[in-house]
Amino acid sequence: MSVDFKRVRSLFGESLFDAIYSCQRRAASSSSSKRWVQRKTSDVYFRDAKVKGLRSRAAFKLLEIHQNHKIFKPGQTVVDLGFAPGSWTQVAVDRTRPNGRVIGIDLLPAAPPKGASAIQGDFLSPQIQAIIKDYLCEPDLGRPTDEREDTVDENGMRLGYIDIERAIDRTPSPSTSSAQSAADTVDVVLSDMSEPWPPIFSFWSFTLSQPFFRLMNTSGITFRDHATSMDLVNSALAFALDTLRPGGAFICKFYAGAEDAFFERKLRKVFDRVKREKPAASRSESKEQYFVCNGRKASVSKQDLYGDLYD
Ligand SMILES: C[S@@+](CC[C@H](N)C(=O)[O-])C[C@H]1O[C@@H](n2cnc3c(N)ncnc32)[C@H](O)[C@@H]1O
Repeated sequence: MSVDFKRVRSLFGESLFDAIYSCQRRAASSSSSKRWVQRKTSDVYFRDAKVKGLRSRAAFKLLEIHQNHKIFKPGQTVVDLGFAPGSWTQVAVDRTRPNGRVIGIDLLPAAPPKGASAIQGDFLSPQIQAIIKDYLCEPDLGRPTDEREDTVDENGMRLGYIDIERAIDRTPSPSTSSAQSAADTVDVVLSDMSEPWPPIFSFWSFTLSQPFFRLMNTSGITFRDHATSMDLVNSALAFALDTLRPGGAFICKFYAGAEDAFFERKLRKVFDRVKREKPAASRSESKEQYFVCNGRKASVSKQDLYGDLYD
């Protein structure tokens, strides 16, 4: 997007515009801003992500976790909480081919990568969770049509998009709530959510089409980052308990702190195997870590763990 500075200047009034503009220029060229740019461009994961067409360096964290724990299989349904800009979703789409389906949820507007679907909204809102569960109840919704067997006619010819859409039975089942019928629909729940914070510099240089660049993933206040991450992982786990099939996997990011051992004990009640991971692509100075959980136990329900807290 190009900005007509002369016009903006005349709209704002010259002195106000000059004051704001020079302040932004000073901030953008401040040493912390320069360090930020320098760190990005000299970062091997950042450069590798660009070369491989991945939307962010975060992809390498999930790839390492997958390499160590064999998370994905072809045909799986994956829910990616906090998916924007979408590199984890790219990895999930790639590793669940053929016939997988991946749905991303994010507060921010971001187009999903090819082969995935997205819902924009606050995952912590019960209404948004109900929308996700309704979506999951339709087993073929979001599955790439060119990989589905039912999209071929009796002569082996691929059906057109409109014929496929018309053939889908979308009659809602009146007797069951979305939460009940979304049970056992998901193979993997991913959560890389972190509370977005307004940045303290550089918003001037980015555009509305890249909103996630204008936000930071941490506040820099250790306790606050830890506490908000605990809210997000507990909510993600409650959702996973409603939707994960027995044997399913759950991966979530958290910022280490006083409450994480307590959360780990909860995870051990729900999953056969729970590991803490700090992938190589995760910066050593960051408190960020991941819980990687495999083998959801069928016997543990959301009510067993949380009572009616997340109803
Ligand atoms: C670190 S980024 C995720 C990066 C992503 N895994 C990737 O590989 O591109 C964290 C994301 O979580 C999202 N997020 C945080 N809280 C959220 C919430 N309550 N509901 C939905 N998305 C949320 C943020 O908007 C942000 O886009």
